[in-house]
Amino acid sequence: MTVPELTRYAIVGTGVRSAFYYRSIIQDFNDNAKLVGVCDTNQTRMDAINDDIVELGSTRLPTYKAVDFDKMVADQKPDVVIVTTIDRFHHVYCIRAMELGCDAITEKPMTIDEQKLQLMIDAEKRTGKRVRVLFNYRYAPHHTKIRELIDSGVIGEVSTVHMDWILDCAHGSDFMRRWHRKKENSGGIQMHKSIHHFDLVHFWLNTEPETVYCVGDLRFYGKENAQRRGEKNLGERYLNNEAAKDDPFAFDISKSDRLKKFYLEAEHEDGYIRDRNCFGEGITIEDNLSMVITYKNRAVLTYNTYAYAPWEGYRCVFNGSKGRLEINVVEGGYSPGGEPVPQSTSSKYIQGGVERTTITVHPLFEDPYEVPVVKGEGGHGGGDPVLLRDVLVGDKEDQFHRAAYIRDGGNAVLVGVGANHSMKSGMPVKVQELVRW
Ligand SMILES: NC(=O)c1ccc[n+]([C@@H]2O[C@H](COP(=O)([O-])OP(=O)(O)OC[C@H]3O[C@@H](n4cnc5c(N)ncnc54)[C@H](O)[C@@H]3O)[C@@H](O)[C@H]2O)c1
Repeated sequence: MTVPELTRYAIVGTGVRSAFYYRSIIQDFNDNAKLVGVCDTNQTRMDAINDDIVELGSTRLPTYKAVDFDKMVADQKPDVVIVTTIDRFHHVYCIRAMELGCDAITEKPMTIDEQKLQLMIDAEKRTGKRVRVLFNYRYAPHHTKIRELIDSGVIGEVSTVHMDWILDCAHGSDFMRRWHRKKENSGGIQMHKSIHHFDLVHFWLNTEPETVYCVGDLRFYGKENAQRRGEKNLGERYLNNEAAKDDPFAFDISKSDRLKKFYLEAEHEDGYIRDRNCFGEGITIEDNLSMVITYKNRAVLTYNTYAYAPWEGYRCVFNGSKGRLEINVVEGGYSPGGEPVPQSTSSKYIQGGVERTTITVHPLFEDPYEVPVVKGEGGHGGGDPVLLRDVLVGDKEDQFHRAAYIRDGGNAVLVGVGANHSMKSGMPVKVQELVRW
């Protein structure tokens, strides 16, 4: 994507994630980028981000309800539309933006099933415009370092990868509290969250997925599981719920200024409830997944995740012809409103990020050694500022090729799609046969 001077951006989907983009444009990149409009189904949330934008020292943006998306593009003439809606609508706005002559930047997952993916691929070809997918994990220094190490050949040809990526109770439960809890909105954790992990493996090994086998289940969250364990708080939501007082999974939406303004006070428009009980009814996604994935370069990944762990992070090992590479990462600091939270392992208050990383190379017939990782300032160990500069300025060639476009976004989606089909049929799925690139 060529980035002309002062690129004009419109944002569709004005929930918490949109702040990642508008804050950065206003605070760090206003010499290169200009915000020209916002669009959402919910006027209250659009007004809330406009208040935020004024607090950041900028001026209120024109707001457009979702039905007026075309009008926003016609009036405000953005060069690029940033899509931060709920996952099931990413394809709608990426496609329409391209049809109206804009490029699109979308949050992950690029989309949630193979039919929508095909529509996006076809629209890109038809319009000559481009979709970029924001895979921010690629830019975290420790993730880039793994790519660098594998590229350097230090462990030779990689044959197997084992990844165990766990979500703690604060983070995992939050997928059960709102729209993510329905498969038709998010595609499940395998699509919404694990997509980062699948993409990392593609990025690290420079390859594409071929076959996906998956078993998964809802084992902890949801009413049935909670009832079986004798949990007391089974109500629909946490607000005005006596039983929520002693429930460590509950939070009080009215006590967070941000959650109150963005969600509680916006509920009357669309009935979007932000604080549903993770032990309530209606969850249709899994909280446990075990997968085997094969790749075009003959590597195999075994992958496990679950969403109610006592700590958050991952262990991943790569077995190669010249040795073994191991990475252990502890992440932390998740809170529903993005407020800093105290960590039991440190005295500091931290906000969503990387706490500890260890990378070890075990060469064949030689002593193992640790590889240092230099963390930067900002989210994801300093990866977020690098990503935002790459997206909003794109001023220099990236030796690691971290920018991700439709094929990268689509390959990661195909693994999630394969998982969903495989869980239904009990069979491995050849995922490249599901689309025509
Ligand atoms: N990369 C990351 O680390 C990261 C982190 C958080 C969220 N995300 C992604 O960002 C996106 C938004 O997540 P969020 O946490 O801000 O969710 P959110 O629920 O806070 O916001 C979603 C917004 O989409 C709007 N919306 C729903 N349907 C719409 C439609 N048809 N047209 C227009 N707007 C519509 C909602 O009203 C809401 O304002 C998701 O795709 C999520 O996967 C990525």
